[in-house]
Amino acid sequence: TRKVILDIDPGVDDAVALCVALADPRLEVVAVTATGGNVDARQATLNTQAIIEQVDPLRWPRIGAADPQLVLRADARDLHGAKGLGGAEPPTVELANRHPAIKVIAEEVRQAPKEVTIVCTGPLSNLAAALRYEPEVVEQIGRVVTLGGSVAAGGNITPAAEFNVFCNAEAAKAVYGSSLAKTVVPLDVTQRFVVDYDLMELLKGLGTRTADFLSQILPPFYRVHRQQFGMEGVYMHDVAAVAMASHPEWFTTEPMYGDVETMGELTHGATVFDRRKAPGEVPNVEVALDVELEELRGYLYETLERAT
Ligand code: BDR
Ligand code: CA
Repeated sequence: TRKVILDIDPGVDDAVALCVALADPRLEVVAVTATGGNVDARQATLNTQAIIEQVDPLRWPRIGAADPQLVLRADARDLHGAKGLGGAEPPTVELANRHPAIKVIAEEVRQAPKEVTIVCTGPLSNLAAALRYEPEVVEQIGRVVTLGGSVAAGGNITPAAEFNVFCNAEAAKAVYGSSLAKTVVPLDVTQRFVVDYDLMELLKGLGTRTADFLSQILPPFYRVHRQQFGMEGVYMHDVAAVAMASHPEWFTTEPMYGDVETMGELTHGATVFDRRKAPGEVPNVEVALDVELEELRGYLYETLERAT
């Protein structure tokens, strides 16, 4: 099994990604750290706790709280619901706020040097903070898989920028510029992964805690996708990042040089990848450019079928 820390901003697709990771026998989720993004930091922490409580895995991963001081450029409550988990109510008892995400990351990485993959499905604030305050720990991170950015697909929160990068572009820039081994799963790949109503049918029949929880949170997500984008299904971006940690062989990747725009008037938060035949800089990220979509879909369904 591979040890992973999930760094999430739940968010409906983050919640699905976490459920999948918890049920995937190839992954050992040692911690789940929250970060502001789809919702603010406090809500993201509460939601993380809510997901784990509802799914109630036998071995609870540790929870790390998002930094409430950070001000982010955007949220996505229009898509994920006022509290971020679509149709579900988060708990009101806060357990986790005493353990900041960056401390949890540092402790887990120290315990298993070079073995932990951090899967980031939200803005990269926690990793950027770790780079700054725990630089020696960062050297011990095995790999980072980040969901976000765009090679040639344009943006989703602005014409140029993908949501996670846009929210904290400075953090993304710091991560791209670091010596971390990193894999980027961009919109070019994830926007092709649309999950239709079959998922709801599957969940109905399962009768597990995970299925019941997802059946609660998902319907408003489908409704908004239909209403806003005219889609007969939902984006499941964040599940692709978990799949990358579990089954990298389904993805076609290429080493590329990438950086993040933090000053542009129209392009703030856009990722820029050097696609020239003779790139000017040494590649610093592994970028997913394609995925076997049917494997990915099968992975989502089969893993949820295994969940408790
Ligand atoms: C990302 O934006 C968020 O709304 C989703 O959770 C996903 O991580 C895609 O751009
Ligand atoms: Ca997310």
